Amino acid sequence: MEESGQRVAVFGAGYVGLVTGACFAELGHRVVLRDVVEAKIERLRRGEVPIYEPGLDDLLARNRERLAFTTEVDEAIEGADFVYVAVGTPPTYSGDADLSAVWTVVDELPEVDHRIVVCMKSTVPVGTGEKVRHRLDARGLAHVGYASNPEFTAEGTAVRDFMEPDRIVIGAFEQADGDAVAALHAGIDAPVVRADVASAEMIKLAANAALMARISFINEIANVCEATGADVVKVAEGIGHDRRIGKSFLRAGIGFGGSCFPKDSLALKQLAASSGYHFQVLNAVIEVNELQKRRVIGKLKRLLGSLRGKRVALLGLAFKPNTDDTREAPAFVLAGRLLAEGADVVAWDPVARADGLHGVVQVASVDEALAGADAAVLVTEWPQLAEVDWASLAERMRSAVLVDGRNMLDPGAMRAAGFTYDAIGRAAS
Ligand code: UDX
Repeated sequence: MEESGQRVAVFGAGYVGLVTGACFAELGHRVVLRDVVEAKIERLRRGEVPIYEPGLDDLLARNRERLAFTTEVDEAIEGADFVYVAVGTPPTYSGDADLSAVWTVVDELPEVDHRIVVCMKSTVPVGTGEKVRHRLDARGLAHVGYASNPEFTAEGTAVRDFMEPDRIVIGAFEQADGDAVAALHAGIDAPVVRADVASAEMIKLAANAALMARISFINEIANVCEATGADVVKVAEGIGHDRRIGKSFLRAGIGFGGSCFPKDSLALKQLAASSGYHFQVLNAVIEVNELQKRRVIGKLKRLLGSLRGKRVALLGLAFKPNTDDTREAPAFVLAGRLLAEGADVVAWDPVARADGLHGVVQVASVDEALAGADAAVLVTEWPQLAEVDWASLAERMRSAVLVDGRNMLDPGAMRAAGFTYDAIGRAAS
């Protein structure tokens, strides 16, 4: 790709920042990634990739000459046309987003004499852009532009999601800043939604809330299916063909986790509440998700009786397959509940670690996890689990009970393999 001459500083070399920086370099821009963690910057300089994300290592390697890494603010800002903010916005105890890392970037921005545009990639509450604008103005940086340019990338497909997005959303105070951010994305074929800053911020929160609502909706349909003898997998297929509904995000299971959904749902809930609005649907979405994880315990109790002293194997720790991310992973909630019930918990995951899960024994293979177990719970739909010889594993267990928390396996085949098999919303199977 040709050199376009744009210089982009990306603050925060975490998940979002790395993908954003690598993809802008791929589009032909010169990118400096800045992070406060020295060790991370050193690893990146050595050509190592600190996170597990398919395609990212190739992209970083291919664009090495257009990428630089630093801990120094001045070095990052030198000659920059755009400053992307991609720092973390974790929840505080109140559920509000913690914007301290965002404010640090804004406050550390050196006095620049040329026009740069600060672009917000981090997910922030509606109204943040307005506050940043005031803070910049108060510092005498009225000539620094501001735009909201939220990300819609999912872990595991982040590079593709950035390079081939469903849409690019840009909210700016000045038309020219929005035009500049749009031009920065030249080479990406996608509709560009231009909006005011507040609406761009809300688009991100609303998109996540809509996706979470679909998951909690299909999970509740699953629960009613269980009570009435229907099969949610068939039901999802049947409603998914309706173009108004669509097929995606209708997989019933033990609930959503990850670094975005749980945090962003809480942030939107708090944002609405602090603005005087009780967001009833969102509250229900969150509560259904909490209960969904715990329903598995009820299933195990129905199948095993008391869980005290029972050995339960968790298959999968990551919040979804193809990532080592365990943030807000349902497996962690399940492990906590099982330990509280007095069960012995073993866990297997091909990449994620049970770090911080005191009392859980992590083993290296599915075989080891199931040996002598009273029950197993399929928590993460790792493709490896489609390949194992379930019939011989059933023989290794003390009692061959399996709760498939992701409806991944074929109920008939699992029963034929000797399992007492239960899933989510599949009474009819
Ligand atoms: C999500 C959004 O997809 C992305 O647009 C946003 O920018 C960040 O949050 P991510 O957290 O990487 O991305 O994961 P995603 O693949 O969306 O899955 C989120 C959770 O929902 C997972 O725990 C997954 O298991 C669960 N899920 C997803 C379901 O339970 N059912 C589904 O049908 C889909």
